[in-house]
Amino acid sequence: MGSGGFENERIRELKAFDDTKLGVKGLVDGGIQTVPKIFIQPSKGLSQELNSKHHHSSNFQIPVIDLASGRCEEIVNQIFYASSEWGFFQIVNHGVPVELLDRMMEGSRLFHEGDEETKKAFYSLNKRKQVKFSSNYDLYKSQTANWRDTLTIDNLFDGHLDPNDFPVICRDVILEYTRNMIKLGDKLLELLSQALELNPCHLRLTTECTRGWLMACHYYPACPEPELTLGASNHSDPSFFTLLLQDQIGGLQVLHQNQWVNVQPIPGALVVNIGDILQMISNDKFRSVEHRVLANHLGPRISIAFFFEGLISSAKIYGSIKELTSEENPPSYKEFTFKEFATNFFSRPLNETSYKHFKL
Ligand code: OGA
Ligand code: NI
Repeated sequence: MGSGGFENERIRELKAFDDTKLGVKGLVDGGIQTVPKIFIQPSKGLSQELNSKHHHSSNFQIPVIDLASGRCEEIVNQIFYASSEWGFFQIVNHGVPVELLDRMMEGSRLFHEGDEETKKAFYSLNKRKQVKFSSNYDLYKSQTANWRDTLTIDNLFDGHLDPNDFPVICRDVILEYTRNMIKLGDKLLELLSQALELNPCHLRLTTECTRGWLMACHYYPACPEPELTLGASNHSDPSFFTLLLQDQIGGLQVLHQNQWVNVQPIPGALVVNIGDILQMISNDKFRSVEHRVLANHLGPRISIAFFFEGLISSAKIYGSIKELTSEENPPSYKEFTFKEFATNFFSRPLNETSYKHFKL
């Protein structure tokens, strides 16, 4: 068979998977004992790396920042260090009740482990649908599918969203959780502004990014052959910044100084990471760093990613923040609207970094 034959076979397999409308969990519930070809990472690389003796040897730990530790100046310094050196940090004492975090995780679990007909009714790969269940939004674009399913909710077009469209089983908790994320997002924008030595209101006023958001409730089923596939391929986030809630299973890794560093689960903590847009408007002062999620024998693993984005309907033009550029340090990126950014992102597979497209 020529490569065209393999390609046709692959597309047939993708289509058959897509048609089940039940994602990876559907395969696992069906009793699958091996990882189907469409999920297998290109040969050697991953399994060699995971089996190598250097794996797990990293002693690094991403910064943990206590937002209630008192001294604002100290917190701002820690945020500057974490955002510029790591692009990732965890926050504790962030003001969102731990009880709400638990209820959000439980709400997502109830959806993913709930009635199959309901899930099928939400299933869609249409990027314009605001509330949808899918497995691999880039299923037909990426080289390799990821071992995860996702319930997505977004108000990216104009900030408007009808809660009646949410799955009933987690409707109330989603509303409460999103309100809390937006409030915390505003607080983080103040700290991030101060870390860039800008007026504390600067990012909140100039980005509009807490008005447009996308929430991804990920479900990573236990995997029979976790060294053959990934829960999420290497990528950086197409956001201003992202707030991630993860359970205690682990598997999220961040690329730091060429090593994959585990993001250790901490009960009650939220993970913050700088996204591509903040890297671009900060003119590379803050870094949008590659990360991935390993597949796991244990599990399922649940995480909730909340991306602060902006609005597609807004005419706002983003570019390097004036205060952060100078003659010696000119802008590194073209100006863009969020619509241009989002169109570019959604036309690519997850593992193709979107900020490169805007590099000058
Ligand atoms: C993402 C992501 C990590 C996780 O959704 O962009 O990186 O732990 N998620 O689910
Ligand atoms: Ni991510």
